[in-house]
Amino acid sequence: MNNKQMQVKYRCPSNIALVKYWGKKEGGVQLPANASISWSLSDLYAETTMIATTGVGPKLTFTFKGESKPSFEPKILAFLERISEYSDFVKTHNFIVDTVNNFPHGTGIASSAAGFGALAMCIADLEGKFENGSSEFFERASFFSRLGSGSASRSVYGKPAVWGEHPEILNSSDLYAVPFEKEIHNSLSNWKDCVLIVDDGEKKVSSTAGHALLENHPYAAARFANAQKNISEITQCLESGDVVNFIALVESEALQLHSMMMSSIPYFTLIRPNTLAILEEIWTFREETNLPLAFTLDAGANVHLLYDKQNENEILNFIDNKLLIYCKNGTYLCSNIGGTPQKIA
Ligand code: DP6
Repeated sequence: MNNKQMQVKYRCPSNIALVKYWGKKEGGVQLPANASISWSLSDLYAETTMIATTGVGPKLTFTFKGESKPSFEPKILAFLERISEYSDFVKTHNFIVDTVNNFPHGTGIASSAAGFGALAMCIADLEGKFENGSSEFFERASFFSRLGSGSASRSVYGKPAVWGEHPEILNSSDLYAVPFEKEIHNSLSNWKDCVLIVDDGEKKVSSTAGHALLENHPYAAARFANAQKNISEITQCLESGDVVNFIALVESEALQLHSMMMSSIPYFTLIRPNTLAILEEIWTFREETNLPLAFTLDAGANVHLLYDKQNENEILNFIDNKLLIYCKNGTYLCSNIGGTPQKIA
């Protein structure tokens, strides 16, 4: 038999949730308990090259920056096996995959959204079922990404992306994310995200384990209902340009995420004393300057500073003068918001 070989490469941005996904629906594969919405981070991305050869699959050879990483292989192979239930193509191919992140490894920045996003785009492209760049193609890539990591489903769009059913979001689905199609108001359309690296170590509790703790969580139902309400309100802010309410909602979402961790059984914390010190500094700065600056948090200790690009100088000065002392090795990474995933020639 003649083995046919195909190769493709994609760049996919990381994303930061404004309304958080924390908790899965029971009885499905990677279905979110509530809808979430995110901004993609165009300057923090993964680039993945995939070579597919015909053969009984899925089989995998994985490298990270060209170097063998046997510890990553089981997770990616499990991902391919999950996809193979929906894609015959994956069953009939062997894969050689190489991934590179453009942000330094070991900064505590979640790379799984960008990584699974890029991988899923490669597969959706090689599968050749839908025209590249069509809405079906992105939906397919998002569907595949979700099977790797829920939050990755939102990474395949440059626009804000919503994942999870919501009555006010047209075509929204638990199976894949959709782009938020309404026009974003000028006052929220040109923001940036600087990630302050507070802790670069391995997380004590993985996101997947954290999600599972929502199953018997005393406040789960209230949290899921509040997230659905916050999606309605935050999307209204994005359209109307209500920056004050936007900031309040984004910060409340971040704190709710971590409150849910602290009230799980067993409970745990991922924020560190320096995380809280930064939040206090941000509140003081906002009170003194009235500049629109919000924080949000991922499942970790690092703080994302979201701000309007037009205030960049003031914010960078604030970081240098007040926040750098709380950052591990004085590290922070800045990104523009947006940036569509790209096929790389
Ligand atoms: C806190 O997507 O990493 O970042 O689906 O189990 O892979 P799995 O979890 P993951 O959860 C991340 C959740 C979050 C919030 C968010 O991005 O919405």
